[in-house]
Amino acid sequence: MNTPANSNTASHSAHVGAKSEWESRYQSGDTPWDKGLPHPALTAWLDKADMTGRVLVPGCGSGHDVRAIAQKKTAKVIGMDIAPSAIRSASAFPAAADETYILGDFLAGDARSHGQFDWMFEHTCFCAIRPDRRADYAREAALSIKTGGFLLAVFFMDPDNPDPDSPPFASTPKDLDELFLPSFQKIDFHSEIDTYPGREHREHLILFRRR
Ligand SMILES: C[S@@+](CC[C@H](N)C(=O)[O-])C[C@H]1O[C@@H](n2cnc3c(N)ncnc32)[C@H](O)[C@@H]1O
Repeated sequence: MNTPANSNTASHSAHVGAKSEWESRYQSGDTPWDKGLPHPALTAWLDKADMTGRVLVPGCGSGHDVRAIAQKKTAKVIGMDIAPSAIRSASAFPAAADETYILGDFLAGDARSHGQFDWMFEHTCFCAIRPDRRADYAREAALSIKTGGFLLAVFFMDPDNPDPDSPPFASTPKDLDELFLPSFQKIDFHSEIDTYPGREHREHLILFRRR
């Protein structure tokens, strides 16, 4: 895979800044991405299928997706976030079942330091990552998921953000194929999915299997 971008000093500094920016967003309550409930496409998916074993949710925020997965009682779920206030917020909710929240930087390998996972669920973490760190995201996804394990992802492809320098960052199907297909096989894809009001037609749901 590509050379880790965090070996680049400018990119690393931008990332350190990004960490404090996420924390201040939570501290000031400026969290428009937090809809107070799990992503509707995840809920629909969990109505039909289970995630089993160990499940990772990077950039979990207040943990709504984590608790939706844990509630089925088929998996041990870890939510990771770089912002201490997000982890505090997630931890303050009553436990659904077997879920844990961990403060950590997914791009720095902090998830895989907890062992490999059978599943990973992506939702608005990838679009929060600067495009020059996306190769690090794809590398960590590949290293965090067991061979034969799964990545279920709701990618926010078209956030319609007028500021190209701040998240959420848009992506194209070609971007995703280039990043993930070297390590994953795409086994399911939907461009029309259940979602929150206002996000219609702007997300893709993809199920990948780790090669
Ligand atoms: C747009 S928010 C989405 C949060 C959550 N997925 C939701 O939908 O409510 C992006 C989240 O990713 C977290 N984040 C950003 N970079 C991260 C990283 N390198 N490692 C772990 N979490 C990260 C942020 O702190 C923030 O909570």
